[in-house]
Formats: sequence, C-alpha cells, structure tokens
Amino acid sequence: MDPINLFEYETLACERMDPVAWDYYQSGAEDEVTLRENRAAFGRIRLRPRMLAGVGVADTHTTLFGEELALPVLIAPAAYQKLAHTEGEADMARGASAAGTIMTLSTMATVALEEVAAAAGGPLWFQLYVYKERALTEALVRRAEAAGYRALVLTVDAPYLGRRERDIRSGFGLPPGMIVANFAGHASADQPGVDPGASGLAVYASAKMDPTLTWEAVDWLRAVTRLPVLVKGILTAEDAHEALAHGASGVIVSNHGGRQLDSALSSIEALPAVVEAVAGRAPVLMDGGVRRGTDVLKALAIGANGTLIGRPALWALAASGAQGVERALGLLREELRLAMALAGCKTLADISRSLVKLPADW
Ligand code: FNR
Ligand code: LAC
Repeated sequence: MDPINLFEYETLACERMDPVAWDYYQSGAEDEVTLRENRAAFGRIRLRPRMLAGVGVADTHTTLFGEELALPVLIAPAAYQKLAHTEGEADMARGASAAGTIMTLSTMATVALEEVAAAAGGPLWFQLYVYKERALTEALVRRAEAAGYRALVLTVDAPYLGRRERDIRSGFGLPPGMIVANFAGHASADQPGVDPGASGLAVYASAKMDPTLTWEAVDWLRAVTRLPVLVKGILTAEDAHEALAHGASGVIVSNHGGRQLDSALSSIEALPAVVEAVAGRAPVLMDGGVRRGTDVLKALAIGANGTLIGRPALWALAASGAQGVERALGLLREELRLAMALAGCKTLADISRSLVKLPADW
C-alpha cells in the first residue's frame, strides 16, 4: 500500500535500509535533545484559523530567486544518498523536479554534481563545505556554475561534525563501491575512510574541513561567484545580521537536523527572531522537523519564505526512488493545501503572523 504520510515512508525506509546506514540518517548529536525538539516545538504552536474565507482550492505556488515552485518545500542537502537507493542523488533530483521543486545537492554526494544536473528535470542548488584547502571548494563552485546550479548554500554550522554516538559505535563509513563522487579521481586523502571505533565521516571532516572559518568566508565566496549565496545554519538574530552584512542573498534557519550542537535551539523556535532581524531584506528558509503541511503553514506564518526537508526525502528515496520523492512531496503539498483551506488562506500571501499563537517565551 502507498504511504499516506511522511512517517509511513520512515517505516518503509527502516525496513529496507542497512541498519548502520539507517542509524547514520536518523541520528542526532549526543543525547539528541535538539533532534527531538525540532519536532516537539512544532507541537507547541497553535493555529488561529479564520472561517468563511471562501478559499476553494488553495494555491501552494511560490517564487524563490525568480524560480517558480509548486510548493514552499525544497530538498535539504544530505550526504551519501546511495545508502538509500542505487541511483542516489540522481533519483532525488528527478523526484524533486517532478514535484516542481528544487533539490540542494550536498558537497558529500555519492553521485557527481554534473551527473545529478543531467538527471534533474529542473533547477538545483549546490551546498558547499569550505575545505582547509580553499582551492578544492573553489573548484566545486566553478563546476556547479558550469553545470547550471542556480544558488550556493554555504553550511556554517559544521566546523567539526557533531558527536553522533550511533556512528561512533558502528564505526560508520561508506560501503565499498561508494565514494564522495565530487572528488572522484582525487587522491585517497580526499575520500573518507573507515576507522573502527570512530565515525569515518567525522574523522574526514576534522581532517579536511576548515574549523577556523569566520564571516570572511562569506565575503570570499561572494567574491568568487555570481550565484546567490544562502547561509545555512543560522539560529540567532545576531548571525542573521552578520550573514546579510557579508552579502548573503538568503539565510536558512537550521540546526543541521539536530546533528551538530546538541541542546541548540529547535529551528522553528529560532525562526521568529531571525525573521525579525532580516526584516524582509532577503528570503528566510528553515529546516528541521518539517513533516506535515501544518508545519509548513506554521513556518510560513512566522515569516519564512519556505522550508526544506532532510530525512523525509531520504526515507522516500529509500522506499521507492524518484517516484517516492515525488509522491512524498505531493503528500506534503496536499496536506498544506488542506491546512490552508481549513485556516482560511487561499494563497501563501494570505498566511500571516496572526495565524499562529506562539509559546510566550519564544
Ligand atoms: C544532513 N544535513 C546536511 N546538511 C548539509 O549542509 N550538508 C550535508 O551534507 C548534510 N548531510 C546530511 C546527511 C543526513 C543523513 C542528514 C539527516 C542531514 C542536514 C540537512 O541539510 C538538514 O539541515 C536537516 O536534515 C533538516 O532536518 P530534518 O528535515 O532531517 O528533520
Ligand atoms: C552530516 C554531514 C555530512 O550531517 O553534513 O552527516
């Protein structure tokens, strides 16, 4: 039977995936407080629906950086998608395009960025990690531009990988035959290895990624590309101001799905202050715990221009490839459409701050 919500994709994916890979996808840092809060915090927001608004069929279309999207939900960057499906990132891109939205490809993809671009039927964004060796990152920027990616997403919350204890316990690493495909043909030092008693990915990240980055990195990236740069991993008004002051074209409120600093604010709880700080000067997106149309509605009511999903897209990819991704996004779109109609919103522009009642201490 076809899944009727994103959680049913979670069950299917769990049945299909290798348990070590499954743990890598599902895990958060340390005690997973932030991972749980990303979901729990959505449950503390109450909606104030308006009646007799004459909605009919609600319209979920939106525009971001000049691109029309069928729904305000994009695919968040996630490493290692061949762990979910043999076609990996290529199928994720196909599914996202078919659903009328954008996939963000991770630096740590298992299919090369050019191949993903060739598979996708629509626009893509590219996520960047800044390596100690900046030339490696700059080469990725050049390739992403040449392959037609429309925006760069600079992830700033991972100077080191968070301590994901399930991955340490399992000695998580890529199975034979899978590589970080954007560095295919490079020396083996550019590939994560396997290290019993450690997460091979965390060892790789601490060897290769630059933990001394400052806001200068945003200036640098802006200077080497003409593409819009979104800064991903913002949780405070202070950092939202910094991002815009350094020329970011947008910010993504995110705690990396609870995988980095445990006990960091949940994303939806961090959103109001960031929206206030940005004050309409640039798009604000958010990810972390988005599973239902009502979650999207809440984020938009607080002032986000869109949301992204991480794990649910991986679950759908594991369950049934591109079709699964397309269908999961379709389910979310139908849920959003219904929630909008029940709340009295005909278009996304009708979703306003007065639709939500937030906890008093946010
Ligand atoms: C991620 N995330 C991530 N982010 C990023 O900037 N680059 C990356 O390579 C990855 N890789 C990655 C792998 C896996 C398995 C997960 C689950 C997540 C974080 C991702 O973009 C996003 O912020 C969260 O996944 C959003 O939370 P949800 O939707 O998973 O709750
Ligand atoms: C992760 C990295 C790769 O969250 O961003 O696993």
